[in-house]
Amino acid sequence: MSKRLGILISGRGSNFLAIADAVAQHRLDAEIAVVISNHPDAPGIAVGRERGFQAITLPSKGLDREAYDCQMIEELRKSNVDLVCLAGYMRILSGHFIREFHQRILNIHPSLLPAFPGLDAQHQALDHGAKFSGCTVHFVEEGLDSGPIISQAVVPVLEDDTAESLAARILKEEHRIYPEAIALVLSGQYRIEGRRVIPFRKIFA
Ligand code: GAR
Repeated sequence: MSKRLGILISGRGSNFLAIADAVAQHRLDAEIAVVISNHPDAPGIAVGRERGFQAITLPSKGLDREAYDCQMIEELRKSNVDLVCLAGYMRILSGHFIREFHQRILNIHPSLLPAFPGLDAQHQALDHGAKFSGCTVHFVEEGLDSGPIISQAVVPVLEDDTAESLAARILKEEHRIYPEAIALVLSGQYRIEGRRVIPFRKIFA
């Protein structure tokens, strides 16, 4: 039986749709059980509904972190989720949430971590004068954009790049590596040694 994904978003949801495409094209053996946004007007929710997914909003505004995360855990449990995928989910998770889904939460971040964690990673890379940036899929642990790295893709920073043009090229790579990383984790064909995620066989194209 296919493993069940819970996808958390806050906005556009293009990574969510890339995962959905990978499932539809049988590149990823999984089922999207639910997609949840903490922003009521996230465009990704409307598109998700159009495409027939269970897409719900759970507004976080004004709620205490732990109280909100308890609601989120309840929703994910209702949908029997095996793996939680953060896809542009711009909210820090509580320790309670992270312990509840121990090593079953993935995140994608638009930089080569540990460089440029946090907000506006593409801006940070430009401001720093980095010649290369990229994206990272990692397990989520307590601590901002930390946790063992599953996959990364490198993207050159061009001389005439703006944060927007760099973000667009990084996003293309995000859409490629996130479904691959999810497939690896769902296959269970890896082990974690310290901070290192070691696949049992070559998985990434
Ligand atoms: C993506 O670039 C993702 O890497 C980033 O937000 C964007 C969401 O786009 N996430 C973070 O910065 C998390 N720290 P999307 O909604 O189109 O997937």
